[in-house]
This record gives sequence, structure tokens and C-alpha cells, in this order.
Amino acid sequence: MTQKHNYDIVIVGAGVIGFSIAFRLMRSRPDLKIAVLGDPMNSLMASRAAAGMLAPFGECDRADRFFHFCRESLEKYPAFIEELAVISDASVYFSMNGSLMPSSFFKETWEDRKRFFEEENIPYEVWSPGEVREKAPYLSESCGEILWVREGQVNNRELHDALVSAARKLGVAVLEANVTGFNRDESSIGHAVTGSGEIAGKKFVLASGSWSEALGRTLGISMPLKPIKGQMCRLQVEDNRLEYTVHGLLTYIAPWRGGQGFVLGSTMEDRGFDSAVEDQVIQGLIDRAAEILPCLSQAPVIESWTGLRPAAEDLMPIMGKSQRYKNLYYSTGHYRNGILQTPNQADYVAEAILETLKEEIEEFSPARYSL
Ligand code: GLY
Repeated sequence: MTQKHNYDIVIVGAGVIGFSIAFRLMRSRPDLKIAVLGDPMNSLMASRAAAGMLAPFGECDRADRFFHFCRESLEKYPAFIEELAVISDASVYFSMNGSLMPSSFFKETWEDRKRFFEEENIPYEVWSPGEVREKAPYLSESCGEILWVREGQVNNRELHDALVSAARKLGVAVLEANVTGFNRDESSIGHAVTGSGEIAGKKFVLASGSWSEALGRTLGISMPLKPIKGQMCRLQVEDNRLEYTVHGLLTYIAPWRGGQGFVLGSTMEDRGFDSAVEDQVIQGLIDRAAEILPCLSQAPVIESWTGLRPAAEDLMPIMGKSQRYKNLYYSTGHYRNGILQTPNQADYVAEAILETLKEEIEEFSPARYSL
């Protein structure tokens, strides 16, 4: 069955990336007819599986285009959350309290990090052990000196809920349909094919995270992108134990607060779509995190899960207009930083779709893979 609606824009991917593009488009062009398609189960292993750290300074150590894009996105976050709250009427936990890097884990790179923060004018402080006891009294004394850096934290599940709600309120059609392929000719796409019908559109956006590669194949496109598995868990801990995000060694602690506990992450595993959660791996995460915040060793586990990070071969996002199809756009490959990049990529991709983008970022361009 072919759907009667002919949408202006069909977004394939129902995570924060897809919905934020729909949100941004509707905010600037309320006349557009937009549909978001996607299997909501996929979000459980992507947008809803993340920890919500907004951490360009913990994740990057050189000032390349990727770093600047992530930093711009962090700067956009407060206004983005405010705008979203007004439209969605949903509350999203968001904080700019900052992140901590204990010297016990960052010994080798301590001086380089500080130099990088100085050179890039990144707001940071060095806390002596005495200051750590005052500002984060539940941290282990073995953390030693700590670098505080101005980063953010969001509850990414609340963010996803708010984006879905805002998109619906703005008139976006949210079709919970799994896309299996497309009707197309050599240079353009006509319909997305789903289990419940074919959805016609003028423009299409591929924003399907780790599933983008398989959908690309149905378009005759070879996308060098694969999932990188991360096992994670969430522990019940009182809010007052820590108000900062912590970067450790192969470990991070992300406080969701609001009574929702702390998320601990994460492994980096190249195992395809394997979603297994292994008890001993989760225990390893808890043990490592408890070296930083000892109360975690006794905290009840609320849940544990696996996330799938969509990683392109060069670990850069794939965003912008297709070379191959005149009505196809991409926003995928956000790897470890999809939640962080959400506001900036929404602006960037919406402008690409509306053809108002002033300058394409070469490093992120689909053209680098002839897509
Ligand atoms: N951004 C943290 C992670 O991907 O585990």
C-alpha cells in the first residue's frame, strides 16, 4: 500500500538525531510536512542507551574541526534545552556543573591537558585534595588533585522524550515503522518502504545510527560504518553524592540526579549487533568506578544494558547532502558524541536540507566516502 501523504521531508531514524532535525526544521519552516520513521526499539540501543555526558573537553585532545563542532554544540545546549522545554512542556535534567578528571587517572596526560585547556581558553580549575574534599566530599582520597572543566550533563532519555513530544506538538508525523528499503531510480528516492506501507517524500534523511549501513546497502551505497558496543549500568545513589560528571580510566560516572541514579560506562567492543550484557563486565565497571566514588560498590544496580555507537571508519560524523541521490541527506556516524552533537548537527543538517548552509564541513561530508 502506498501512503497518500506526500511528505516534504521523510526522516529515517527515530532517535535524538532524527527528531532534533525534525524539531529544527519545523521551528524554522512550520509549513513543511515532515515524517519521522523508525523502529523505537533501535533508540533503546542508541539515543536512550547513552550516558548523556556533554564532554568535548574530556573526549577530545586536539583542536580539530570535530572538537570545534562539539564545543559549539555544548555552547548551544542551554538555549536548546530551554526552547525544547517551552515547546514540549517536558522537563529535561540538564546541568553545566562540569566534569572532573582525577590526577590519579590522568597522570601521563596531566600537563598536556592543562596546556590544551589554556591554549583553547577552556574554563578549567585545578582542585587540591583539600578543595576536592570540600566540593566533592564523597570522592575517594586516592583521586588526588582534580581537574575541573566546564562541561555539561543531560538525561538523554528525558531529552529523547522531550524531542518526540515537541515534534508531535509541532505537527511532525511520527510513524513507528521499521524501514526496510526505498523505491528509487538511479538519482532520486521516491518512497521509504516500511512494514506498514510506502511513505512518499520529496527529500529523505538517513539518520539511523548503526542501522544506517544496512539501509545504505538497500540504496546501493557502501557506507564504512559499524556499531561499537558499550556495556553500561545505572546504580541507585543519592543525588547528593556527586554533582559532577567524572572521567576515569576506561570508566565514567554520569549523574542523572533527580532520584534517577548514576550511569556508569562503558566498554568499547567491536562485536557487530551483539547486545549481550555480561555480569562480570558490569561488575568490572562498578569496581573501577568505585575506586573514584566508593559508595558505588554497595549501590543497588537499577539496570544494565548495551549501547551501539555508530562509528564511521574515520570516526567522524557523516552529515550533509548525498553525492549519489539528489534528494538524500545524511546525519549518522555520531559515534561517542551523538547526544553532545545533537543541537549543532540539527542546525547544520536542517540548513543543508533547506539549502541555506553557508559552508560544508569537508571532514564530515558524505562525499569523502562517495555517498
Ligand atoms: N560518550 C561516551 C561513550 O560513548 O561511551
